[in-house]
Amino acid sequence: MKLVIFLTLFALSQVLGESDLNNRTFPDGFKFGAATASYQIEGAWNLDGKGVQLWDWYTHTYPDRIDEQDTGDVACDSYHKWREDIELLKALGVNHYRLSISWSRLLPNGTVNNINPKGIEYYKNIFKTLRENNIEPLVTLYHWDLPITLHEIGGWTNPLIAEYFAEYARVCFREFGEYVKTWITINEPQSTCWGGYAAGAKAPGYSLDWEGLYLCAYVHVLAHAKAYHVYDEEFRSSQNGRISIVIDSPWAEPASNSSVDIAAAQQEREFVLGIYANPIFRGNWPQIVIDNIATRSKLEGFARSRLPQFTQEEIDFINGTADFFGLNTYGTGLITLQNKVDEDIGTPSYSLDKGTSSTVDPSWPSDVPWVHQVPWGFRKLLKYVYEQYGHPEIIVTENGWADKSGTLNDVDRISYVSQYLSALLDAYYEDGVNVAGYTVWSLLDNFEWTNGYTQKLGIVQVDFNSDNRTRTPKDSYHWYQKVIQTKCLVENCV
Ligand code: BGC
Repeated sequence: MKLVIFLTLFALSQVLGESDLNNRTFPDGFKFGAATASYQIEGAWNLDGKGVQLWDWYTHTYPDRIDEQDTGDVACDSYHKWREDIELLKALGVNHYRLSISWSRLLPNGTVNNINPKGIEYYKNIFKTLRENNIEPLVTLYHWDLPITLHEIGGWTNPLIAEYFAEYARVCFREFGEYVKTWITINEPQSTCWGGYAAGAKAPGYSLDWEGLYLCAYVHVLAHAKAYHVYDEEFRSSQNGRISIVIDSPWAEPASNSSVDIAAAQQEREFVLGIYANPIFRGNWPQIVIDNIATRSKLEGFARSRLPQFTQEEIDFINGTADFFGLNTYGTGLITLQNKVDEDIGTPSYSLDKGTSSTVDPSWPSDVPWVHQVPWGFRKLLKYVYEQYGHPEIIVTENGWADKSGTLNDVDRISYVSQYLSALLDAYYEDGVNVAGYTVWSLLDNFEWTNGYTQKLGIVQVDFNSDNRTRTPKDSYHWYQKVIQTKCLVENCV
């Protein structure tokens, strides 16, 4: 078996042209990991006292909005198979495992007056077992599964959600802080606010393009900051952990060298990444976001800007609430100006406020519409985040390749991840970016939101047709295992 794996890896290294890869050793202390999220893997949607959450409701109420009418009702059944998942992680040799807590498994109504002991027990067992196996749990408190009760009072457009989130976070810090030393408050607010509250493409499926996205962004950064302060003031000194947020963004590359496209690309970065990162790492919304929305709102006849204003107190409360920068990224866009700030007045919308449009180069390797293999874009993004947000330590909390076939012989995934890790080394050694960890998405093929099970991102295949949800490591798993062991992408590193 070992010989077969070795020969496969050798053959792969020839196919992939290792000479293109950075041949430096990963720095001492660099952390390799793999990631998942509660709804995407756990299943057990209504077992042992768990409450209903947004995606249970969404997949059950609008089955046609999900490819093949799939749901996460069973998913990878990790609620029952978590020990096997940890065995896989152990054999892989990762330093950390990024996973999330299901808010409604812990607090069935979303509120702290009803804590589910089975939920506490489930996560405590996992975190404890990870520690026993020398794997650091990187725990996300919120990966899109909002308790339905909180959705019903307005979800991420209601500032009260920020209070409920902080109260939930306090329970998690108190119950799990002995084992968990790296906390992530919220996963990808951009995906939720754009997908869920503007484009109507993710739960809850709203097209509130004119204001919903901004309200959603406001409530997210406020919720994050409240949870951060709870940790900082009540737990940090006794638990000695760290806490941040995960922000996602593709790299925005100007479509041409024209000054207009260069400015458009920066505008895109501020409206996609800066809306969430700026309040937390620099204070307040990015200026261009404030200006564009104010100008357009006025021309559109609104009595005030459609962008919620932070008070000075809120700006100070939110600014500086991150111990590192958690970054998720999958692709790159070529950005050009779509409309000027005073053009196309009449339809209030985020897209027109942003004023840009994005395309891809058809030559970029890709198997699904939203992932393209553009490693140089990743390197530029790392450098940009590092310079723009005050030189934070960056942990890549998600990155990976999606394919439709789910093949075990996943050469394309190995190609993508090796090129991205190579770009990461370039950013570290050549550009001086303090990037301290990398987390592949995902450990397992899993419920890929509205794409159901039609897109696979796992380095371990899951057979969704078997009751056992049989797990089989793919070639990329063995390849990644070797990289972690050798801390090197090529045969011999310098
Ligand atoms: C999300 C994951 C998702 C992955 C691939 C990220 O946006 O955090 O939950 O599965 O992308 O789509």
